[in-house]
Amino acid sequence: MKVNGTPYRTIWLDDDGRTVKTIDQRWLPHEFRVVDLTSREDVAIAIKDMWVRGAPLIGATAAFGMAIQMGIDPSDASLHETWDILHDTRPTAINLKWALDDMRALLMPLAPADRVEAAYRRAVEICDEDVEICRQIGLNGLKIIEEIAAKKCGKPVNILTHCNAGWLATVDWGTATSPIYHALEKGIEVHVWVDETRPRNQGAHLTTWEMVSHGVPHKLIVDNAGGHLMQHGEVDLVIVGTDRTTAHGDVCNKIGTYLKALAAHDNNVPFYVALPSPTIDWTVKDGVKEIPIEERDGEEISHLWGKQEDGSIGQVQVSPDGAEHGNPAFDVTPSRLVTGLITERGVCDASREGLAGLFPEFAK
Ligand code: MRU
Repeated sequence: MKVNGTPYRTIWLDDDGRTVKTIDQRWLPHEFRVVDLTSREDVAIAIKDMWVRGAPLIGATAAFGMAIQMGIDPSDASLHETWDILHDTRPTAINLKWALDDMRALLMPLAPADRVEAAYRRAVEICDEDVEICRQIGLNGLKIIEEIAAKKCGKPVNILTHCNAGWLATVDWGTATSPIYHALEKGIEVHVWVDETRPRNQGAHLTTWEMVSHGVPHKLIVDNAGGHLMQHGEVDLVIVGTDRTTAHGDVCNKIGTYLKALAAHDNNVPFYVALPSPTIDWTVKDGVKEIPIEERDGEEISHLWGKQEDGSIGQVQVSPDGAEHGNPAFDVTPSRLVTGLITERGVCDASREGLAGLFPEFAK
């Protein structure tokens, strides 16, 4: 997508074919900072401290981390150690493991001297694949928006989204936002309710930045507003992303997604989840019991991050010294609350049968 008229992806290789460049998203929406990642340690910090975030982008970044390390030490020991170091950065988004497994399976059979070239090639390929997958998700999700638009007789389609499942969370296009960007390109009127998404405010910081940059009509709302808006007919459709979806269609996503799904269910609002196939964890049966939920630092709750009146960027403390905090970063929405899954191969029921119908080769 474009930033001030210049096309960007969220991660790319510099002209030397070796330096990995990415956007340090911690500074958005106030500053657009591009940083170099030159070691696996850089990559581990960038993922853990959320310079990059969003399941597909975490996977793509880890793939580059493996490639960078192959340029430093292509031995078997270094390959396995890098898998462990990068895998330990964040526990919930399955795209991380998917990308690391993919890279290791490709590299292990090769002679060490051949690994670096192959690793960079595959990391770039993973990025290109993600872009195409997200574009297809957009085209498949567009059909849902078109159907609703047809019934709204020229009034905008109101779409609620949670967290940031936009182009910043992927390599380009986004998952939940891709249908929205495609609808806009087709001249369909949409209006997006953006959940601020406490504690880190990915909605407030990142999704609104995307909406403003791309001229998408939107309103930022507090996390607790969604249910009220649904009761009053102000939401036609919910589309969210996911960090891990089980083979049975349970959906793990940013904390608060489950409450939106409950409210949508109670108000007959369609609740769709947009996901690329690497986000499906075919090994998990019961999402609530089996998916590891990341517990993050309480400081994300005790402090709010933003631009101060004097223009400096920093934190303010919102809870008293001595207060204790609990910060589970994700929750699981059971498949029964999900209207459908929007994938690169089409839209399906949130069920084993639905996913197996679209991805028979994985659903054995
Ligand atoms: O903690 P984050 O910012 O990495 O969480 C991101 C989300 O929950 C997204 O909704 C999810 O990764 C889908 S991104 C296409």
